[in-house]
Amino acid sequence: MNIRITIGILLLTACHTAPTFTPQKALDYCTRQAAATAAQLPGYDSLPRSIATNGTRWKLVDYKDWTSGFWPGVLWYVYEYTKDTAWKNKADTYSRTLTPLAYNKAYDHDIGFQLYCSMGNGYRLTHDTSYRRILLAAADTLATLFNPKAGTILSWPRNVQQLGGHNTIIDNMINLELLFWAGKNGSPHCYDIAVQHATTTMHNHFRPDHTCYHVVVYDTLTGQVLRRQTHQGYADNSVWARGQSWAIYGYTLCYRETHQPQFLTFAQQVADAYLQRLGEELIPYWDFDDAAIPQAPRDASAAAVTASALLELSTQVTDKVKSKHYYDKAVAMLAELSTPRWQSSGYNTALLQHSTGHKPNGSEIDAAIIYADYYYIEGLLRLQKLQKGNPIF
Ligand code: GLY
Repeated sequence: MNIRITIGILLLTACHTAPTFTPQKALDYCTRQAAATAAQLPGYDSLPRSIATNGTRWKLVDYKDWTSGFWPGVLWYVYEYTKDTAWKNKADTYSRTLTPLAYNKAYDHDIGFQLYCSMGNGYRLTHDTSYRRILLAAADTLATLFNPKAGTILSWPRNVQQLGGHNTIIDNMINLELLFWAGKNGSPHCYDIAVQHATTTMHNHFRPDHTCYHVVVYDTLTGQVLRRQTHQGYADNSVWARGQSWAIYGYTLCYRETHQPQFLTFAQQVADAYLQRLGEELIPYWDFDDAAIPQAPRDASAAAVTASALLELSTQVTDKVKSKHYYDKAVAMLAELSTPRWQSSGYNTALLQHSTGHKPNGSEIDAAIIYADYYYIEGLLRLQKLQKGNPIF
């Protein structure tokens, strides 16, 4: 080949090579963005939830909102990364605003997301016994929603009448982490509830190809399955991307906490179903079956949840080839999320843009959403630990 053409090709390649992804670079970015958000917030009773497409300001919510634990969680992760006590103090103060949730009647299953992402991380990093007390109370509150006939937690008490019975959503799997934690910290009944919820959900919530329904409605008195449907997905029979992500994350954590091989097998099956639907892509459309694809919006939050979960799953799987497969996929997803296409800088102070919250409701579509940020920074920290040869916890 002509030397000038060769040099031209080399130069072109160099120009188009994406900057190398490292978790450290991405975590530095997260720290800068979180500082910019923190500077914007009017007070500790205002928690950032989402920023609309092309918007610059956070929609703020109070501690009762289901997303309230994610901002304190982001702050704990920034503290874990920077070791700077200014971040710890912020994380602590925001976390404590959620305390009433632990002592009031359970509004719904989200108390697990709310308290565990905030104070759960706080306890993990500080061993502050006041967090321990509040987390145990929160787990007892969550446990009041368990229905032994159905064998699952009632996700939405407010929707029992409308849905015609005891309802359980796949998202509820994440809240088992609080119950497992309580099981190890003096409340063994919480462990039993978590195992039963996971086992029942494994039997009732999935199709033969291991994709999941969003909602299963049970007869409150007999525990019989009445119907399977969606709430946030495209259709009852479609695969809502974030729902499948919750399932991957949920069964991975169930194996971590129980060491029951059935959960490890299942975590791989639900992960494989997601990856098979994803194909060569890295960030899914909000629902794998939306008829509008490729015009449908994507969901960066599903990618962030999945990447974080796959990193953990890669540490559990003993088959080296499979473990590497999950690890490589997770790294590719985090690297993609760390490109200007998905990062928010230049637009607003969130970490990520292009998530989809509730498409059928017309809300938070192609938006920056705080739970995407939470699982993104969690995934980056997990990756950094693994690269250094450390365990992820
Ligand atoms: N748990 C609600 C959601 O994933 O949007």
